[in-house]
Amino acid sequence: MKSLFKLRKYFARYKTTIYLGFLFIFLSNITSVYVPLFIRDGIDELRRQISSPALIKYALLIVGVTFISGVFRFLIRQTIIVTSRKIEFDLRNDFWSHLQKLSFKYFQNTKTGDIMAHATNDINAVRNFIGPAVMYSFDTFTLFVFTLALMFSIDVELSLLSLLPFPVLSIFVYYFGKKIHLLFTRIQEHFSVLTAKAQENLNGIRIIKAYVREQSEINHFRNLSYEYFKKNLDKIKVDSLFHPILFLTIGSSIIIIMWFGGMKVINNQLTLGELTAFILYMGYLIWPAIAFGWITNLTQQAAASQKRLNAIFAIEPEIKDSHLTNYNIKSLNGEIEFRNVSFKYREKLPFVLKDINLKIPAGATYAIIGHTGCGKTTLVNLILRFYDVVEGEILIDGHNIKTIPLKVLRNEISFVPQETFLFSDTLKNNIAYGLNGSSEIEVNQRIEEAVKIAHLTPDIESFPQGIETIIGERGITLSGGQKQRTSIARAIAKGGKILILDDCLSAVDTSTEEIILTNLKNFMKGRTSLIISHRISTIKDADQIIVLDNGVIAEQGTHEELVALDGIYARIYQKQLLEKELEEI
Ligand SMILES: Nc1ncnc2c1ncn2[C@@H]1O[C@H](COP(=O)(O)OP(=O)(O)OP(=O)(O)O)[C@@H](O)[C@H]1O
Ligand SMILES: [Mg+2]
Repeated sequence: MKSLFKLRKYFARYKTTIYLGFLFIFLSNITSVYVPLFIRDGIDELRRQISSPALIKYALLIVGVTFISGVFRFLIRQTIIVTSRKIEFDLRNDFWSHLQKLSFKYFQNTKTGDIMAHATNDINAVRNFIGPAVMYSFDTFTLFVFTLALMFSIDVELSLLSLLPFPVLSIFVYYFGKKIHLLFTRIQEHFSVLTAKAQENLNGIRIIKAYVREQSEINHFRNLSYEYFKKNLDKIKVDSLFHPILFLTIGSSIIIIMWFGGMKVINNQLTLGELTAFILYMGYLIWPAIAFGWITNLTQQAAASQKRLNAIFAIEPEIKDSHLTNYNIKSLNGEIEFRNVSFKYREKLPFVLKDINLKIPAGATYAIIGHTGCGKTTLVNLILRFYDVVEGEILIDGHNIKTIPLKVLRNEISFVPQETFLFSDTLKNNIAYGLNGSSEIEVNQRIEEAVKIAHLTPDIESFPQGIETIIGERGITLSGGQKQRTSIARAIAKGGKILILDDCLSAVDTSTEEIILTNLKNFMKGRTSLIISHRISTIKDADQIIVLDNGVIAEQGTHEELVALDGIYARIYQKQLLEKELEEI
């Protein structure tokens, strides 16, 4: 329950509307409890003498009061339920912006499905508390008090009798509600398993077909689907028991009142009108009794959900601006230095980078080569501060990167990751992704230049809508090389002082690679560039080539120096030369 206190700040924001909503609840209930009183008076008066004016008077009174109460009901929903939707909106946005700030590590260690569940089910459960639970608790409370007061004013003894079944009813609703909720949660959980399976299946359809696994996938899905079906049957069983038992309890308490109340009418201790009003009030009490158990369940579910949300809200982004940040740094020149840098991904894992010392002058082009898994990607991830170094420090322009505002640091780096990711949007919007705040003319200019450098022009010309073509799931699928070149164009368009290319030419042929590298030469002037590749042809012209081996810098020098050194680099070079010769035969 304590977890729900965190919602205070949201409630405070809409305080006035919520109070107004409470006022409407009060007014709606105080008018609606008049209906049975009018019926009572009506019956008693009409029993004495039936007259048209009296009939019309009571009919109008009842309709009038019901109408007024209805107007207030409308206003309750317009205030409280609307507010609950507003708070849900705020909460969801807060949750999302918090997620966006969390570090890379969080997303690597958390399943996407879990995050989605928090963003949908948990926020929904909290909304059910903010709206219905809050509204109905005040609603049923006031209705209960008013009704009870009027019932006692009619007949104390009957009132006490009629209250007897209510505790039982509440407990019954509470336990049944809990059971239904549990079954419902299981259904939902299983449904996400089912959708995850379907999603993976559709993504992997190519593999399924290539390996002729359709039948086994059909069987697997059928089993999961059957499980879902059975879970639904379990819930239906409980649901179908719930209503008959509920009405049995209510019905039996009405019989008791009819019996004792009827005796009182016969003995002239009660008028027929009064008994009718009394039974109508009983009807009024049923809802609060049911609602009590229901509200308790909603509140408990919301508390559990809010607890999970609070736990996420409590996670501090590991990498963020701190007291070390020097906000006077507004731009970077591009000199990068690694000083005794060591890094491992987790406490218990071995070091991936060991005592790296490297100084890259501003404007220079450095290349990194080395066997797969030797730590190249890791090295550049550290410059972007996707992770922080474990030992040593990285400096840019002499500033430890921890002192550079994160926004400045990342704005100055144009990064092409090893694994291309493009959004399901137009080609143009993908390339312009890093260009917020620029004027349209500038954006178009930059895109044009980037497209040219990345040698995308011929491809774009062949697309039906040119650069406005939608790519990804909603549009056309790009080839591996086209994706890589789009990713390069996106980085070029952004135009920071530091360019990092992580093995991003692996899917283009050597002649296209050559064109791009030649185009890039001009762009790289005045920029510090770091190029990772497995191909000597990509990197041979770099000012310096770093050979990483098992997390340490094994060799460093120009292409000629390293060939002459006759070490790891020379071996890779000879192998690739041989491959090329074989290809040409
Ligand atoms: N998030 C991670 N958590 C734990 N270990 C990781 C993580 N990312 C990479 N590693 C490990 O770190 C080592 C270096 O990986 P890295 O991606 O830097 O290699 P690489 O040199 O870029 O390889 P490639 O040439 O295949 O791209 C590998 O052994 C890898 O398994
Ligand atoms: Mg890599």
